[in-house]
Order: sequence, then C-alpha cells, then structure tokens
Amino acid sequence: MRKLIVAGNWKMNTSVAEGVELAKKVSAYAQQKNLPAGKQIVIAPPFTHLAPVAGVIDANKVILAAQDCAATKNGAYTGEVSASMLKGLGVKAVILGHSERRQYFKENSEILLKKIKLALEEGLDVIFCVGETKDQREAGANLYFNVIKAQLVDTVFTLTKEEFAKIVIAYEPVWAIGTGLTATPEQAQEIHEFIRKEVAANFGAQVAEDTTILYGGSCKPSNAAEIFAKKDVDGGLIGGAALKAEDFGKIIDAR
Ligand code: 13P
Repeated sequence: MRKLIVAGNWKMNTSVAEGVELAKKVSAYAQQKNLPAGKQIVIAPPFTHLAPVAGVIDANKVILAAQDCAATKNGAYTGEVSASMLKGLGVKAVILGHSERRQYFKENSEILLKKIKLALEEGLDVIFCVGETKDQREAGANLYFNVIKAQLVDTVFTLTKEEFAKIVIAYEPVWAIGTGLTATPEQAQEIHEFIRKEVAANFGAQVAEDTTILYGGSCKPSNAAEIFAKKDVDGGLIGGAALKAEDFGKIIDAR
C-alpha cells in the first residue's frame, strides 16, 4: 500500500541543542496525533544531531533519516559517513540525490547509484530526489520531462523490483527550493503523474500504484493542502518550514 509521508529536511540548520528541542516537539506532536497506519513523519537532521535526536524521539512515531551517506562502504575517506554507521545510530532512511548535493558537491547519477545501493544493503529506505532547474523548466516540457526521466533511468530504475520497493521519490523542482516560488498544484501533479507512469513502464502497474512520490519546494502551511490534494502527490519533503515545529505540524495535518 502506498505510504503518505511528510518529511522534514533540516539541511545545515540548528545547533545540536536546538535540533534536540525541535525533535522533541515533533515527537510529542506525533504521539498526540495518533496518525493512521500508512502515514509517516520523517525528520532528517544533520549528521551531528542524529545520535542525540534518536535518544529523544518516539521511534514508533517519527522516522529518523539522514541527509546523505557515503558512496563507499568504509575506509580512508576523510569526513565521510557510511550507511552502516547511520544504521547503527537508529537511522531508518536517507535522502539521496538532493539538488543541493548535485549542484554544490557535483553528485551525478553514477555516484548516487553507489550511495543508493549501499543504503539499501544496510536496510535503509531511500528518499530519492529528482527535479529540473529553472533553465530546464523554461526550455519547455520536452526538456524537463526528459531531465527527470534521465535522473530516474540512470539510478533507481536500474534496481530490482524488490529494491525499488524501498525507494520513495521526491520531486523537487530546483527553482522552487528555498525561493518562495512553489510549483502550482497542477505543475506538481503533472510531474508526479509522469513519474508514476514511468515507474509503471519500468516495474509494472502495481509497483507504480504503491510508490510514494513526495513534492518539495517552498511547501508551507498555506499551500500544502492544495498540493497534497492532487492524486499523485503522496506528501512532502519540507525544508524551511520543517524548522518550526508548529508549521511542520500544520503541514503534517494537511495530508
Ligand atoms: P524548502 O522547503 O526550504 O524550499 O526546501 C525544500 C527542500 O529542498 C527539501 O529537501
């Protein structure tokens, strides 16, 4: 069955102490809400916050995710954090392919596929981000559909059906991230429907039906409900608005 997910990507924000406080609030909110089965709350704090945050959340109500993992298993890779290290901390999922990683750290599909495989080997779920830049959007539908398709074909579409079952896709148009410019519900639905059709062509109709596809990009309490109401939008990957427990809670309630 398709899961509904509202995930908070904290990016490189909050001190450890602030992050622990935020996590406590999100966890208390989740406990008090008694969410229906199939609806999940995910938080992705920075690496440094994962251990203390794991100690204060109710792991039955809030899923702990990381924002990245290494493309190698272990060894002499100064500064890197492996999927197995994350697993050992109680992390259940990892965000991969975020446009900020693609843009600032030059992560391409080849690197991302290595990361995806290592995360899956450790039993972590993967929230895999795709999305077109402003220039690609302005170049017209032919181009941006192809950009998104290529991001999928070179990575998650090479997985087996069983592996792909652990993948959540997040459509994050780069032009909408942190800009205040949100995709309209129709723009989001158009891409989500396209992604689901591509999943169906690759893995079959049932897998496509079961795949969770999140929207991300300037999602906030005032626009979440109309975006989440679209039939192929199964929740959101939230940046800025996930840093305020109250706003994050309102977005969780919007779906
Ligand atoms: P904003 O919600 O701040 O636009 O960020 C979206 C995002 O990149 C989530 O991964």
